[in-house]
Amino acid sequence: MPGVLKLWETSPSGLDPRVDAFLSSLSVDSRLLEVDIVGSSAHAAMLGAAGIVPESRSVALTEALAAMLAEARSGSLKPDAAAEDVHSFIEQELTRRLGDAGKSVHAGRSRNDQVALDMRLYLRQAFGEAEAGILDALGALCDLASDNAETYMPAYTHLRRAQPSTLAFHLLAWCAALERDYGRFADAARRADECPLGSAAVAGSGLPLDRRAVAEALGFARPSRNAMDATGDRDACVEYAAAASTLLMHLSRFCEEIILWSSAEFGFMDIADECSTGSSIMPQKRNPDVAEVIRGKSGRVFGALVSLLTIQKGLPLGYDRDLQEDKAAVFDLRDTLAGVLPAFVALIEALRPKPAAMAAALETGFAEATDLAELLVSRGVPFRDGYAATKAVVAAATAKGIGIAALDDADLKRASDAFAGAGIKAGDLADYLRPAACVARRCLVGGPAPACVKEEIARLRAFAAEAAGA
Ligand code: ARG
Repeated sequence: MPGVLKLWETSPSGLDPRVDAFLSSLSVDSRLLEVDIVGSSAHAAMLGAAGIVPESRSVALTEALAAMLAEARSGSLKPDAAAEDVHSFIEQELTRRLGDAGKSVHAGRSRNDQVALDMRLYLRQAFGEAEAGILDALGALCDLASDNAETYMPAYTHLRRAQPSTLAFHLLAWCAALERDYGRFADAARRADECPLGSAAVAGSGLPLDRRAVAEALGFARPSRNAMDATGDRDACVEYAAAASTLLMHLSRFCEEIILWSSAEFGFMDIADECSTGSSIMPQKRNPDVAEVIRGKSGRVFGALVSLLTIQKGLPLGYDRDLQEDKAAVFDLRDTLAGVLPAFVALIEALRPKPAAMAAALETGFAEATDLAELLVSRGVPFRDGYAATKAVVAAATAKGIGIAALDDADLKRASDAFAGAGIKAGDLADYLRPAACVARRCLVGGPAPACVKEEIARLRAFAAEAAGA
């Protein structure tokens, strides 16, 4: 296919059209158009300031790039489909507009450091979006939690009723995971905060480039520290994908719980109509599709992480063209997160808890048994003995088909002498073992007592407000 010469061609190469199309990355990397223009502009300005190209050419370049950026933003700058990639297109376009000045822009750089820079600039936006989306999710969870600090429900282990808890406490468990997710994106963004430009192809440039000035102009903390590493390194992509994968693993778990809780079998909550869907054949159905699709997206996100790792495994330093494959994975991750996070917030806002059904789940199953064992401990009984005595009480109540609090003193005595020995009367237990009483006693750091939960909500809100301002 004759047409525009590749940047590396001085005469048409007669590249096999099948290979030409195969190697082109333009259809994917045209998403880097704006960031590539921004990076090119900083490079062009530096070339002038450092005296590498005449000031007049540098100014012509930055002006043309400013115009191209405006056109890219308005959608009127369309990459030429014949270009090998977005970087080639921009140089060719500058040359078309400016002649020799356009041909000067590539001094001291290579597409290798150019694309590494573009990915850093792109990821900076992607990290910021993920962080903001997580803060929104934390906000929505805090809102729901503050309305439900005294909505009692079982805490589960092995998906079996374990101990009395509250919906708010469960939601705050999700928040704890999301706070770590936020930290993972923020940490990765900090590590990615280095400017690769000036690394050129692999070993830097003999021209007097001012790498610090370019890094500063582009808002980076510093220039990258090794040209060979910087051109062949895609750790920031991997870390973004790893943070996204951990986030999606969490969201998938939360969604699984929402699906269970909103089922008729649990009946703990409804999902409002605006966030649930019907069936094309079964008129009675309301389905938790939002939660299911988020759960399903986790597979796609984990896949991107595995792609990014596998693409790089075995690559010798420096740049290898395999790295071109990083972009489809990273772009898809950003699109996926841009869909998932707002949908998750909408889902949380659409949850309609049913406190009576949750409380009913505490009426059977002996979730209060640990509290009885701990009552014995508080009266000086060794825990293992208290455990055995309580186990006998549970067996007695099970045999009678009643709750612990409905047993009488004779039942307690038959189960164990420990109760009488500790001065515990059957009549005291109903009040002591109420879910609200059990939860209120768990007033320790990280516990579900409403007072602790309220403090934790306040801490999370302060964290989110500070992080949003950061
Ligand atoms: N399209 C390429 C990529 O995405 C740009 C870098 C090309 N470098 C090269 N030496 N061919 O990685």
